[in-house]
Amino acid sequence: MLPLLPYFLLLCISSQLAAALKDGLLPNGNFEQGPRRSALRGTQVIGHEAIPQWQTAGFVEYIQWGQKQGDMLLVVPEGSFAIRLGNDASIKQRVRLTEGVRYSLTFSAARTCAQEERLNVSASPEFGVLPMQTMYSSNGWDSYSWAFLAKSAAVDLVIHNPGVSEDPACGPLIDSVAIRQLFPPRRTNSKT
Ligand SMILES: *[C@@H]1O[C@H](CO)[C@@H](O)[C@H](O)[C@H]1NC(C)=O
Repeated sequence: MLPLLPYFLLLCISSQLAAALKDGLLPNGNFEQGPRRSALRGTQVIGHEAIPQWQTAGFVEYIQWGQKQGDMLLVVPEGSFAIRLGNDASIKQRVRLTEGVRYSLTFSAARTCAQEERLNVSASPEFGVLPMQTMYSSNGWDSYSWAFLAKSAAVDLVIHNPGVSEDPACGPLIDSVAIRQLFPPRRTNSKT
């Protein structure tokens, strides 16, 4: 039995590496898989696990391309659906990453209300507060990117709108949540 042990360990290690998330969209990172009809009240998402792959909290809406908000037509940068984080709302997904590696979390966001908005982006235990800028791109969406160090192999990625406004539906639209491994420049010992 004993000589087999190293192989067994190797297998364990490699299967763990294989399970770490690949670069690109998170599972259902573009929200194309939506809640069942019964989990929607109008556009509001009911229940914390209604959107496949995600856990939600607070006032979250499921937005379809072309939906109207007053006189404004809501467009979605990728696919046909996005979500909106209203008052104190958040979305969360637990992902497997490689511990000790730096990643960048990217997503698209669009403001739909006039007031200032901020998003608290976190990869437990790290977080960063990103101010939402005025719309720079022609379709009203901008890309945001936040870098973090994976402190463990299982990380909760959270995008949270800490804002509280009179209209609970005010808050940024979010789409295309993706992750990418960052490769720091290699240190070399060569002297010039
Ligand atoms: C941001 O979120 C993290 C994780 O949920 C929390 O620990 C931190 O206090 C929050 N920071 C702000 C400024 O809201």
